[in-house]
Amino acid sequence: MTATENERVTPVSIGEARSSGPSVQDFLAADSRTVPESLLDHSSAPQGAVDIPRLRYIDPAFAELENEYLWTNTWQMACMEVDLQNPGDHVVYDVGDQSLIVTRTKDGSIKALHNSCLHRGTKLRTDGGRVASFRCPFHGWRWDLDGNLVELPAEWDFPQVWDQPDSCLPEAAVATWQGFVFVNMAEDPQTFETYADKLIEHFDRDFAMADRHRAFWATKEVPANWKVCMEAFAEGYHVIATHPQILEFTADENSEYSIWPDSPNVTRFINGFGAQSPHLAEMTPQQVVDAYMAFAANSPKGKLPEGMKIDVPDDANPRAIVAGMFRQAMQARYAADLSDRADSELLDAVLYHLFPSFAPWAGVGQSLVYRWRPGSTPDTCFMDVIRLAPNPDSGEVPDAAPQQVLSLEQSWHEADEMGALADVFEQDMANLPRVQAGLKSKGKKGVSFGLYQETRMRMHHRMIDGYIDAGLVHDGRDAGELDRWRVPTD
Ligand code: FES
Ligand SMILES: [Fe+2]
Repeated sequence: MTATENERVTPVSIGEARSSGPSVQDFLAADSRTVPESLLDHSSAPQGAVDIPRLRYIDPAFAELENEYLWTNTWQMACMEVDLQNPGDHVVYDVGDQSLIVTRTKDGSIKALHNSCLHRGTKLRTDGGRVASFRCPFHGWRWDLDGNLVELPAEWDFPQVWDQPDSCLPEAAVATWQGFVFVNMAEDPQTFETYADKLIEHFDRDFAMADRHRAFWATKEVPANWKVCMEAFAEGYHVIATHPQILEFTADENSEYSIWPDSPNVTRFINGFGAQSPHLAEMTPQQVVDAYMAFAANSPKGKLPEGMKIDVPDDANPRAIVAGMFRQAMQARYAADLSDRADSELLDAVLYHLFPSFAPWAGVGQSLVYRWRPGSTPDTCFMDVIRLAPNPDSGEVPDAAPQQVLSLEQSWHEADEMGALADVFEQDMANLPRVQAGLKSKGKKGVSFGLYQETRMRMHHRMIDGYIDAGLVHDGRDAGELDRWRVPTD
């Protein structure tokens, strides 16, 4: 046996195999500028090879367990601070069968009040807005912005409630970070700072979002389980079949997926651009640059000069060349000095994920933020897309874009200002109902995730089980209740 054959058959540990071609860290090492420290901070942690039971995506009883124990015990982005500028401004945050009123109080703090009347349970608010107090539409019990009961018609009939300490609306924990408001309904949750450790470290150091404004926000009901939808935005593996038009300048299979075991709620996916896919026959740097320039002529990153042709030497790094173009275009667009910003910051898709449902992109210029929530059945969910744009130099911050709501039947194309992004989203969305339908097939019992490219999904499923297990124990229920859907141990 030759040495080469020997190497080829040497087994690697589970989840340690990687695609051919340069890694993301190779791209960063060749960057024409100093790369932000956060991008160099990468880590992986194999999560085994077992199939994930398909019932987890389709069974209403499992969705109930998620609603009961996952969504009530994790930090989730409820809104942005800009939605709560004045006392009484509030947003209704619905997740699963729970609802919170997230409001600015008179002293300027933010509270998250359970959105349920303490008389007979009526939902106090169905929509956001600005109010002086929260008055139940049924019999008129009224709470101030801090959640104190201040009016109760016929109070003589409710001595067990009126003036009693537990007449305040129960509160959930609130945290603010980089312009976002997070809530957690757990009784005594881990602080947001601990929960989101790595996310905070990276963004506060390298990817500040607070100097941006919300230029776009749409929420769409999607015909698939929230995990199916979320997982469709969590890997570059689907590019070859779903977005083949970008293969010539997308290093899809060379994407990097980070799991940091000491900050397990935070993971990251980096997809390098300006380099060819390893699926294609070898291209010259000229071909890669030409393909990217043609595609990006109207990029939201900044319009590139039309019909521009650059001569690319055979030994050139196409990433540096395309990044140079974007650097120029974006400097003009944002009137900002980007001369020190790394090629990677200008080019690559860098998508963080805060378990379970908040995913901000990092990078220069505009950036996206995703959020997912379960729907009323396991077959639907809600996905939010927010676009943040840099504030203009004038110092005048544009008004935050209002929420646009799209129904199950509507397409992302119907959202104003979504632009070319809607085309890509529709490519992604086209898969989702087919996945959801196919998961109901009795032909195969589980989902066979890749050991590296889809490793974060394996971890998230185990984390969901962890929350359900803890909840069952907390409530004195039998841990065996989860067994039907539990991710098996390897
Ligand atoms: S149910 Fe709210 S006041 Fe009666
Ligand atoms: Fe996609």
